[in-house]
Amino acid sequence: MTAHASITRRYKFAAMHRLHSDQLSEADNWKVFGKCNNPNGHGHNYVVVVTVEGGIQERTGSAADVEALDRLVRETVVARFDHRDLNGDPAFADKTTTGENLAILVWDLLVGKIPSGRLTKVGVVETRDNYFEYAGPAAVGAG
Ligand code: NI
Repeated sequence: MTAHASITRRYKFAAMHRLHSDQLSEADNWKVFGKCNNPNGHGHNYVVVVTVEGGIQERTGSAADVEALDRLVRETVVARFDHRDLNGDPAFADKTTTGENLAILVWDLLVGKIPSGRLTKVGVVETRDNYFEYAGPAAVGAG
């Protein structure tokens, strides 16, 4: 039987955003998001961590092709968001640019394209004190 293991890779990009929901009044936006609702937006040095798991190949000793994963994430995620305004990304046209939604978006962008192994987790570090995680729809409880 092949032993399985996980590999986690870390990527960085800088982007700006503004937390704002069209479904909330101006006052409620301020109440929920505080200074993150500031109309001028603000920036973060985002860190995205991507975890894939797979069977350890006897020839390589690796559970996934890290080079190919790096290429995919750079082309699909980093190039898309680096030095951009997240609020201007079409995927956020009707969604708030929270860390939760960003983690889900990164998952959705990658899940069908993982070159080897299986995507098991996407993490987004937004600030020193904010970390968001998404492990796919199956891992989230109903409601
Ligand atoms: Ni922010």
